[in-house]
Amino acid sequence: MQMRPLVLRRASLIKRILTTHRHYSTRFGYAHSRCLVFSRFGQPEKVLKLHSYSIPPPYDDIINVRFIASPINPADINQIEGVYPEKPEFTLGLGTGDKSAVPGNEGLVEIVSCGSKVNPSIRPGQWAIMSGPNFGTWRTYAQAKESNLIMIPDKEGISPVQAATVSVNPSTAYRMLKDFAGLEPGEYFVQNAANSGVGRSAIQIGRLWGLKSINIVRDRPDIDKLKEELISLGGTEVITETEAKDKRHMAKITGGQPVKLALNCVGGESATNLARILGYNGHLVTYGAMSKLPFSVPASALIFKNIHCHGFWISAWSKENDAAKSQMIRDILGWIRDGEFKDIPYETTKWSEDTRLETLMEPVKRGISEYSGRKGIFMMEDD
Ligand SMILES: NC(=O)c1ccc[n+]([C@@H]2O[C@H](COP(=O)([O-])OP(=O)(O)OC[C@H]3O[C@@H](n4cnc5c(N)ncnc54)[C@H](OP(=O)(O)O)[C@@H]3O)[C@@H](O)[C@H]2O)c1
Repeated sequence: MQMRPLVLRRASLIKRILTTHRHYSTRFGYAHSRCLVFSRFGQPEKVLKLHSYSIPPPYDDIINVRFIASPINPADINQIEGVYPEKPEFTLGLGTGDKSAVPGNEGLVEIVSCGSKVNPSIRPGQWAIMSGPNFGTWRTYAQAKESNLIMIPDKEGISPVQAATVSVNPSTAYRMLKDFAGLEPGEYFVQNAANSGVGRSAIQIGRLWGLKSINIVRDRPDIDKLKEELISLGGTEVITETEAKDKRHMAKITGGQPVKLALNCVGGESATNLARILGYNGHLVTYGAMSKLPFSVPASALIFKNIHCHGFWISAWSKENDAAKSQMIRDILGWIRDGEFKDIPYETTKWSEDTRLETLMEPVKRGISEYSGRKGIFMMEDD
């Protein structure tokens, strides 16, 4: 057998490795990561840039990860605009000229390789989600530590989108239903923006826990279709903002049974109305302000009905509740696996080596302008 000179064989081997693993060379351990970055706060279309950088092989407690899916949540947009209380860390570590940060708080990763001191139970191929905010998930590869990750022990029966979107919206709904009003099966809660990601999660978790829900949505031409959809998720009643203002209509729905919890995603007049709907000792929990309007609570609701007003922020809760968060994620993933918890409507944008900035900006811009009815999700291609 005729052998090719060593130098030629080596060159052809390197070429093969580079073409089959263009972005992650397992032989050399270097990953080529592409990410969106911003170096100042502002409108996403003005401040976001596409950037590439190299990630070295992991050492000690470092874990190299590949992103599979990263959602575009309203909080991510607010963070880029600089109007979100949680600020990302701006760093020179990405090799950008100015200090910059990668946006994105939620995402699903696959473990690619681990440093020598990483817990041996963490192995390549396993899935994990971010344990807290500010990781910077709008990128293809990254380095993490075990503390940044919540491992998904069994990915069977769970889609990448379901895993990638579990830690913000379903988790927020889970906590608000569980932690504020001591709701028992058969009791009512009410919520506005019931068709949002959080709202749809609350409907489904409410159904699983035997709670009755009154779901308020904005009036629209195709309201019957939306009502049907939310009822099919397990909503007890779906009504419009206009119907929710009608006291007689509300009394007919509840049959006089007090509503103990209200979840407010909107603010303004819609939130004031939630305070009116609540019964004696009811709890009003605000978690969003989609209308960007402040709201007033009628004095009568505070004095005669003893309404309690709260705010909830999953980022703050997560920082202080590691163990409870892992249990909650297990619960939600269990429901997904059992087919008890449906996906939010979503729209994916493929992100490969050749994807251009304009393509990546499309779902980001949709997230700013109008609620499209579908959550934007970057799906990173394993090419
Ligand atoms: N506090 C927390 O921990 C926490 C956690 C998760 C989410 N959030 C917040 O919750 C909100 C919803 O998030 P999401 O991911 O569930 O959102 P989403 O799926 O994108 O849904 C947005 C919702 O807001 C409604 N909406 C949009 N603009 C509105 C306006 N001007 N007035 C009234 N309603 C309006 C939409 O209703 P239409 O169909 O009528 O447009 C839709 O129901 C965001 O503000 C987000 O930041 C907070």
